[in-house]
Amino acid sequence: MRDAMQALDDSFAFQTSGRFDLLAGEHVPHATLGAEDVDRELRRSIERGEGVTTVVGRMGSGKSSLIAAVTDSLDEGFVPLRVSVIGVEAGDAAAFARHAITEIRDLPDVHLSRHESHALNRATAERETRTVTRELRAGFKIGAGQILTGTVIGDIKSAASEELTRAVDPSDVLRAMQRLLDVFWKVRRCPVLIVEDTDHWGGSPEVADAFFDQTSRAFGKMDAVMVVAAHSDYRRLDGYERVRDRLTAEILLPQLPDVANGLTIVLQRRMDSAGVRTPVREILEPAGMHLLSQSYGESVTDGMGGDLRRTLAVMRAALDIALSEPTAQCIGPGHIQEAIAKTPLAPSSALDESAVIAER
Ligand SMILES: Nc1ncnc2c1ncn2[C@@H]1O[C@H](COP(=O)(O)OP(=O)(O)OP(=O)(O)O)[C@@H](O)[C@H]1O
Ligand SMILES: [Mg+2]
Repeated sequence: MRDAMQALDDSFAFQTSGRFDLLAGEHVPHATLGAEDVDRELRRSIERGEGVTTVVGRMGSGKSSLIAAVTDSLDEGFVPLRVSVIGVEAGDAAAFARHAITEIRDLPDVHLSRHESHALNRATAERETRTVTRELRAGFKIGAGQILTGTVIGDIKSAASEELTRAVDPSDVLRAMQRLLDVFWKVRRCPVLIVEDTDHWGGSPEVADAFFDQTSRAFGKMDAVMVVAAHSDYRRLDGYERVRDRLTAEILLPQLPDVANGLTIVLQRRMDSAGVRTPVREILEPAGMHLLSQSYGESVTDGMGGDLRRTLAVMRAALDIALSEPTAQCIGPGHIQEAIAKTPLAPSSALDESAVIAER
């Protein structure tokens, strides 16, 4: 089994990436992990074609992974548009809208058409036929087939440019945002704004608070879908509490009901995609899996999903440790234990506790 371990190490099989576009490929639907089918919940919520949906969980629990996988698998009637919160005053609705318009204007053309071609290829492969247009909700139709041609993308981007030059004061910017979103609907596409790097607000609860209270409230009234990753603690913020009733859905990342089984499936998926066709139990002893599951369990502090990022980091470190022993044939409990000691658990809270308390 040493060869398998070496191959896993060489291919960075347990590496966790910060890149949103790489997450969908590694994602295992929660129902497959034996948990509540939040993948389906999120999809259904987006398919309503309106409002703000939050995906809630602790740091490293898989919010971005869920959002990436579900938005990636939507049909071509939807256009996922990721808007980063970095470098913008996200608590100011107009500033955020201006930033979103700018991001759409500056997106490479292939980025705007990528989801559509991806979805169309998948439908062809699955021999799926869809009706040409369908009504998503009263008055809003989405269409099947290729729509985002070079000319249409050119129109979207020049609309974004024009709106940016025309919108001077904050209320103009919000109207400009809506007009740009309307350009998507006019070509029978539902825009899906994705805000998932909100861990960035960790040290600034006031930004998270204002984002929910001001920005998400304003976007919730627009004709678009917005999906927002929220740390569990953000739910305690007054600004979040104030908009909670208006959310289209609040999706809580579920716990793994059978941790060892769930982790085995996640690890196996990564081993398979690294081309290592060995069962997990052959490279990780049951006692090692037991310890790994326990350490995952320790990161469950809010009754929701635990820290999968850290669990994968422990696995990666344990693999390194085992390989550093010339005779080790698999990962044993000792290796996991040493890896746990080397891989500190990130705080469950993204927010600075004292800041949250001071705010109350
Ligand atoms: N359902 C899943 N199937 C497989 N891997 C997963 C799943 N959920 C999460 N992961 C893995 O766990 C790691 C952490 O996930 P992710 O980045 O989505 O967490 P997050 O909740 O967005 O974290 P943060 O709060 O830091 O933004 C990633 O490497 C991801 O690939
Ligand atoms: Mg994330």
